[in-house]
Amino acid sequence: METHITSSAKQPHAKYGTRDLLRLIMTHAHPKKGLFVIGILLSFVATICSLGITLMLKEFIDAFNHGTSGQLLLRLGAVIVVQLFASVASSFLLSYTGVDAVSTLRSALWQHIVDLPIPYFDHNRTGELSSRVVNDTSTIFELISSQFSNAINGIISIVGSLTLMLLLNFRLTIIILIVVPLMAVIIVPMGQVLARISKAIQKETANLNSAAVQMIGQNRLVKAMVAEKALKKQGKDQVDRIKGFSVRQIKLISVLNPVLNIMLLAAIFIIIVYGGILVQTNALTIGSLVAFLMYAVQMISPLSSVTGLVTALQQTVGATERIDNILDSPEEDKRLSGETLSTIDTVDFDHVDFGYESDKPVLKDIDLTIHRGERIALIGESGSGKTTLVSLLEAYYTPTRGELDVNGETMASYTIPSIRNQIGYVSQEVDLMPGTIRDNLLLGSTEPVSDEQLSALLTQVGLAGLAS
Ligand SMILES: Nc1ncnc2c1ncn2[C@@H]1O[C@H](COP(=O)(O)OP(=O)(O)OP(=O)(O)O)[C@@H](O)[C@H]1O
Ligand SMILES: [Mg+2]
Repeated sequence: METHITSSAKQPHAKYGTRDLLRLIMTHAHPKKGLFVIGILLSFVATICSLGITLMLKEFIDAFNHGTSGQLLLRLGAVIVVQLFASVASSFLLSYTGVDAVSTLRSALWQHIVDLPIPYFDHNRTGELSSRVVNDTSTIFELISSQFSNAINGIISIVGSLTLMLLLNFRLTIIILIVVPLMAVIIVPMGQVLARISKAIQKETANLNSAAVQMIGQNRLVKAMVAEKALKKQGKDQVDRIKGFSVRQIKLISVLNPVLNIMLLAAIFIIIVYGGILVQTNALTIGSLVAFLMYAVQMISPLSSVTGLVTALQQTVGATERIDNILDSPEEDKRLSGETLSTIDTVDFDHVDFGYESDKPVLKDIDLTIHRGERIALIGESGSGKTTLVSLLEAYYTPTRGELDVNGETMASYTIPSIRNQIGYVSQEVDLMPGTIRDNLLLGSTEPVSDEQLSALLTQVGLAGLAS
């Protein structure tokens, strides 16, 4: 078994990009592509309808002097209904695709982590792994279910409004086109800073998660060492680091939004002043001016969601890399094609060497034969390797030299589940899974066990009082 696993966090993969995100989603999240495409199409329809509604309003206003047309109102009503239906349906479909894909990805991660070999858990912190399953998948969820569709709608809205504005009045559009790049000059760099901050927040939140898991799990140790003070400080420092970044984030957002609003107002002001002049000289109708104003808003407001997508993609690439690292780590080889071990008669350690790291041997030249029915006690100082020896028997690790035989055959010839099924292992650490005592007693059993069978078993091992 290949046991050398490098810590993933320390190796930056410059090659990671949006393409990897797409590959991860396609291979592990199995998104419902049909629903997604329908959602995007409906959202396209909704955006086109809103652009159309503005155009009809223009007609409506311009027709005001000549009496309103009932037919126009009817058309307007119909388009509003279609727009409403399309946006409700697309919003549902896109969010549903996101929920569904992320659930699939989360399950895949969970299944994979259960099957990772023991050395993997030696090299990766519990809190970090759990943060992958919970937080990193949420980042991907946000991207699929909202940011992506917002940006697509944004692009349609920007291109559509721009085209219609150009058709309505060329010169007025050019003026707006001078204002927009000015806004981009502000949005883009601030967006990049925001992306960096939110990446830092993500990272520090994962650290908090990991530290909390340890603090809670090791609380006995904390108390025994009277380390409460140090741990409280550690927790506060960690929380303060997140707060620091979050405060910077809200400062930036607080500035960004009003600045954008002012620029939007400036654009509206320019349109009204210049457009007003055009209306007076009969170069533009009032309806066109109103439509123009609405298009300007429809073009400028989605700008932030389009640039937001870039930020979101950057964040998600980080999450993708971390999830990929887990999914790429090979699962434990259960040797399912091997023989089934149905009873243990002898266990033979034949000149076995083993070390967790290649340069630090723990077991050296262990030569030991154990026969069925024997009672063996391993006695040694703490750290001498007693638990390690049992870990080899459980096939958590494989010897680096020598051979471990069961019933005269190398242990590697038996399937892993059949070996572990033959070994009753009570660890020195009390390991319980959440659930009832019954759940814990029956952990891993695949057949239903009646209360009678259970209490008979408990009587056999001298724990009869437990079941009642
Ligand atoms: N997962 C691991 N990764 C790296 N080194 C380990 C790991 N588990 C144990 N070791 C190291 O291997 C050596 C043997 O540890 P082991 O737990 O087998 O000792 P032990 O005899 O069971 O001790 P104790 O009496 O305290 O239970 C120790 O030096 C320990 O630090
Ligand atoms: Mg031990």
